[in-house]
Amino acid sequence: MSAALQGRSLLTWLDYTSEEIRFLLDFSKQVKAESASGEVFQRFTGKTLALLFEKRSTRTRCAFETAFGEEGGYPVFLSTADIQLGAKESPEDTARVLGRMFSAIQFRGFKQETAEILAKYSGVPVYNGLTDRFHPTQALADIMTLEESFGQAKGRTLCFVGDGRNNVARSLMVICTKLGLHFTVVTPPELKTDTALLWQCNALAASSGATITVTADTDAVAGADAIYTDVWASMGEEDRKDERRRLLTPYQVNRPLMDKTGRRDSIFLHCLPAVKGEEVTADVIDGPQRRAWDQAENRKHTIKAIMLATLPPPRS
Ligand code: CP
Ligand code: NVA
Repeated sequence: MSAALQGRSLLTWLDYTSEEIRFLLDFSKQVKAESASGEVFQRFTGKTLALLFEKRSTRTRCAFETAFGEEGGYPVFLSTADIQLGAKESPEDTARVLGRMFSAIQFRGFKQETAEILAKYSGVPVYNGLTDRFHPTQALADIMTLEESFGQAKGRTLCFVGDGRNNVARSLMVICTKLGLHFTVVTPPELKTDTALLWQCNALAASSGATITVTADTDAVAGADAIYTDVWASMGEEDRKDERRRLLTPYQVNRPLMDKTGRRDSIFLHCLPAVKGEEVTADVIDGPQRRAWDQAENRKHTIKAIMLATLPPPRS
C-alpha cells in the first residue's frame, strides 16, 4: 500500500481508493500513538516543504509546520504577501520553481484549479490545505476523531448542518462515500451541495454501502452518531454574512438541535475556527459532546501520516 502512495498529491479524496484512505486512517492512529510515547523520529531529515497560503490559518499551518519540523524537515511559510504568486508570476511558473527546490508543497487558497496546476507542473506531491471546493486533510482528521468515539466509521451516521455547498461539507461527502458512512447534509435549498458532486458520490456509494441525503429538515439528525457544523460564511465570503445569517439561523447547532438526535452519546464536530453564537452555541461546542479540540489535534497526526506515506523515500 505505501508504495502505491509514494509521490502522490492529495487534492481531493475522490482521487483515492477506500483502501488507501483506510490505510491512512490506521497509519494516523499509529503516528498519534508514537507521538504520545515520546519517541523521537527524524523521518523528514533532508526534506523541504513549501507552505503556500493565500488565506489565513491556525490549525492547518501549525499542523504542517510542526509535523514536518519535528521530524527533521525544513518547512518554509510563504504567504502571498511574500511571494510572486498572484502578483507577477503564474501558478504554472511558481510550480516549476518550487518543484526544483522543495520535496513537497502545501497549498491553501481560493481556487481548486491552482492546487491542480501546482501538482501538474511542480513534479512533487501537493497537499490541498483548503480551497473553495475541498478541505481533504480536515476530513481525514474528522473521521479519525469519529472513530476514536465509535470504532470503525463504516456504517456510522454523520450529519453536516449548515452551508451545504462549502469545502468542508463537500469533503465530508466524499470521504463518507468512500468509507461507507451514512452522510446527511441538513441545509436550506439555497445552499444545497452541487448536483455534480452529489451524482459523483451517489455513483460511488453503491460499492461502499454509503448513503447520502440532502435535506432542509433538521429532524433528519435523528439517530445521528455525529453532528458537524462550520462557519456560515467561509473565508472570502464575508460580504454574504447577512444573507447567510438569514438562511442559516434556523440551522444553528444548539441544545434543542442536539436533542433531536435522540441520543446522549452522539458527538459534536467542528473544523474550527467557530463563531460561537452563530453556527453553534457555546453550551454545545464546550459541552460534554464536544470533540472539536480532538479534531484540531488530529489534524497534526493525520497530516504527518499523509506526508510520511506520500513523500518519496531518499534516493539510495
Ligand atoms: N480547520 C482549519 O482548517 O483551521 P485553520 O483555518 O485554522 O487552518
Ligand atoms: N469553510 C471554512 C473552513 C475553515 C477551516 C472556510 O473555508 O473558511
